Amino acid sequence: MAVLESNESVLALPPVATRWQSREVAQTYDRKRFSSFLGRLFNYLSRRALCRALTSIQGELDTVLDLPCGTGRATEIVRRFSSRVTGADISCAMIAEAARRLGSSGRSCFVSANVTRQPFPDDAFSCITSIRFMMHLDDATRRAALREMARVASRYVVVEYGYTTAWLRLRRAMKCRMLTLFGKKTSFVRAVPWESIQADIDQADLELLRAYPTARGLSESIMLVLKKR
Ligand SMILES: C[S@@+](CC[C@H](N)C(=O)[O-])C[C@H]1O[C@@H](n2cnc3c(N)ncnc32)[C@H](O)[C@@H]1O
Repeated sequence: MAVLESNESVLALPPVATRWQSREVAQTYDRKRFSSFLGRLFNYLSRRALCRALTSIQGELDTVLDLPCGTGRATEIVRRFSSRVTGADISCAMIAEAARRLGSSGRSCFVSANVTRQPFPDDAFSCITSIRFMMHLDDATRRAALREMARVASRYVVVEYGYTTAWLRLRRAMKCRMLTLFGKKTSFVRAVPWESIQADIDQADLELLRAYPTARGLSESIMLVLKKR
């Protein structure tokens, strides 16, 4: 079990590669994550940030790989921008949910793939989207994942990061304090400072075109549009 923060209000989580493997987890993922008021609000805001990111490169999205696709939450949006979308994930259970939600057609298909060792040749897709994933990884794995995305994309990588600032750190600390006071627990994803994000982008030989915070000052999520150098 990996512990993300040493605080009594923080929940321990199973490792990333196996966390979403079971059918039960896959079938209840959307309901558990996005059915509360805050879950629905976050879902709306993050989908909006993805729409903005994809609109900024609209017309250049011949083929898109959404990796990891999970239950197809983001793949559904990507399909509005590209006529040929591949959804891929390490979990067959999540892929099954995505295929059920979106259906396989000439416009989209689903395959099994590991982000850090992708079964695709160099420059295989015009763009790769990777949503709600990088914030689950340690620094070395996150960097390797971004390098692999840059290898497989011929033009763009649209990726969501968890980022932090002094204000967001304070906000997280206050949240932990409140949870401890009420005897509750939650899990936290990894959020890194902007310098780490820039270092990730540089080492993958990518350049930052645009950044779309999901909810500035309120959320650690940020959507980045990166271009191959
Ligand atoms: C939090 S979900 C996000 C899914 C989707 N992008 C979304 O926004 O709803 C994380 C997904 O990453 C997948 N995953 C974890 N490790 C992976 C890896 N090494 N390669 C590919 N997929 C992975 C999990 O199976 C899970 O479906």
